[in-house]
Amino acid sequence: MGSAPPQLPSIEGLTLENITETTKLINSQCPNPRLRYIMERLVQHVHDFARETRLSSEEWMIGLNFLVQTGQISSDVRHEFILLSDTLGLSMLVDGINHPKPPNSTEGSLLGPFHTHDAPTLDIGANMSNDPQGEPLLCICTVKDTKGNPVPGVKIDIWETDSSGHYDVQHADRDGPSERCVMISDEKGRFWFKGIRPVSYPIPHDGPVGKLLEKMGRHCWRPAHLHFIFQKDGWDNLVTALYVRGDKYEKSDAVFGAKEALTIDFTTADAAIAKEYDYPEGGLLLVQDFILTTQAQTDKLRDDLAVKAIKQLGLNLKLVDHLPVPDVD
Ligand code: BEZ
Ligand code: FE
Repeated sequence: MGSAPPQLPSIEGLTLENITETTKLINSQCPNPRLRYIMERLVQHVHDFARETRLSSEEWMIGLNFLVQTGQISSDVRHEFILLSDTLGLSMLVDGINHPKPPNSTEGSLLGPFHTHDAPTLDIGANMSNDPQGEPLLCICTVKDTKGNPVPGVKIDIWETDSSGHYDVQHADRDGPSERCVMISDEKGRFWFKGIRPVSYPIPHDGPVGKLLEKMGRHCWRPAHLHFIFQKDGWDNLVTALYVRGDKYEKSDAVFGAKEALTIDFTTADAAIAKEYDYPEGGLLLVQDFILTTQAQTDKLRDDLAVKAIKQLGLNLKLVDHLPVPDVD
């Protein structure tokens, strides 16, 4: 082999008491400061986890085998590790850290595994559902900034399940996108579309994550929701969803995506709405504002919160590209 091995600190007098510090010392040679910091914290937490739980050898092996099975069931169209992260509350935590929201803006939620890139771009007002069993729903929405100004030209991805609680991609005989579309907000920040009343549905639970939920005494259901992604240059991407108040699973979402700020109430269309939007009077209606933040607003808030968190940790860190790294200079 070509180059000489790196000079590492020598491991001497290894004990259970110093194995954490020794492992961290060996890793401290990592030339990438961000990876060095991540591994330093990972080793600390994983070792503490073993010490605090007095992890048995059997449990250690069960855990490793669980991870192997999680990998084995994963494929191009199934990412069981993301599902694991979702059910551990980690996905929502990471989203919250990366996309902090000022109080007057729309909060984020989970992307989930069922967003696709083949949704048709439809004219404002179009119907995105092909499901004759679904109860028609008219959604009249606006996109605004945190000062209340309309944001035109936003690309909005919208998707939901059919009335049986399945996304189009879950049907083996899928012959194209359904219950999904892309729209662009108009000059007044408005967009409206027709879909169907969302229903609750179970997350994929035939794999190791589903088995773990069962062992934990947890269910695998998500409350009824509609998914959205808002994208425009200069603005923080908003991945979110709206959850239906009163759903059986409103307060026990298996993946922790539902929250009060994103919980909506339907109303019904009056005669004026029915006429203006070519929609049956008395039909199900949702009227919703979405408030976006600029990239600059989000970056500043994220940095402020990171500085606060670093201070609480009491570690010698600085921010590089909005991420903490050891401050060695
Ligand atoms: C979803 O809402 O589509 C979803 C989110 C997380 C896991 C499974 C499904
Ligand atoms: Fe969903």
